[in-house]
Amino acid sequence: MKAHGRSILGTEQLTVPEIESILKLARRMDPKRPQQLLRGRRVVLLFYEPSTRTRTSFEFAAKALGATTALITAASSSIEKGESLIDTGWTVSSLGADVIVIRHPNSGAPYLLSRFVPVPIINAGDGLHQHPSQALLDALTITNHKTGLKGLRVVIIGDVFHSRVARSNALLLSKFGAEVIFCGPPDLVPDVAATITPGAMTCHNLDTALRGADVVMSLRIQKERLSGRHISLDDYIAEFQITPQRMKLAKPDAIVLHPGPIVRGLELANEVADGPQSRIHEQVANGVKIRMAILSTVMKGAR
Ligand code: CP
Repeated sequence: MKAHGRSILGTEQLTVPEIESILKLARRMDPKRPQQLLRGRRVVLLFYEPSTRTRTSFEFAAKALGATTALITAASSSIEKGESLIDTGWTVSSLGADVIVIRHPNSGAPYLLSRFVPVPIINAGDGLHQHPSQALLDALTITNHKTGLKGLRVVIIGDVFHSRVARSNALLLSKFGAEVIFCGPPDLVPDVAATITPGAMTCHNLDTALRGADVVMSLRIQKERLSGRHISLDDYIAEFQITPQRMKLAKPDAIVLHPGPIVRGLELANEVADGPQSRIHEQVANGVKIRMAILSTVMKGAR
């Protein structure tokens, strides 16, 4: 499958050369030096769910490439009046959208849209399913600090069960031969998570998982989804919060990532979130570069 001129729906669809090409392009992008690569193009940001990082970085990325953007949110559009996803997609396409960036609470919504709407669709996070641009920006951040992804021990900690970030990252990283370990309590990291991608493993003990880690990727604990699960926040903090003491088990040059938003004092101790191994601010900044590369890749074949 070619990334050029088509939708980007999930990391499983991208080949290693396509991912490498997006990363290479992102490294050359400078959001502070606007270009006219997408001049005259219209990028619609169709957000059915809240977002700070993804929405803003897609908007900045599109504008840095010379495109025009339009933001549609569920609360301030005809979606509120009951318009269906497909009708909304058709409407913005008829209005002249060249690409639609969509975030939706339902897994599969971007796939559905891509079947009915004649413009490329970029998945900006769908339900519990995928968040491909997040995994690409994470790969960019990791490769800024490591010589490659092959053989890296990447520990993904927290609410894997509900995480589209975990799924997209595991699928991408395993293509390059990284070792992916999902860590958290059994309710949030069921053993079936190991089947997401070949070579992935689950571990319910944080100290064991962190030993020798190259990358420590913390996920947001989705408090709104914890009810009915056999875990309290106090237990989670005691057993799975990433602390400076626990970080000593990882390699000395290990880096810490978090897709945001961080719930301070829950997933990460402040000393880790703001510490010397944290690359969280860099991740956010890389979000603009990677989305510039994604938009220009998708639009290349659509010209
Ligand atoms: N990482 C991420 O998707 O953050 P937002 O929800 O703020 O876009």
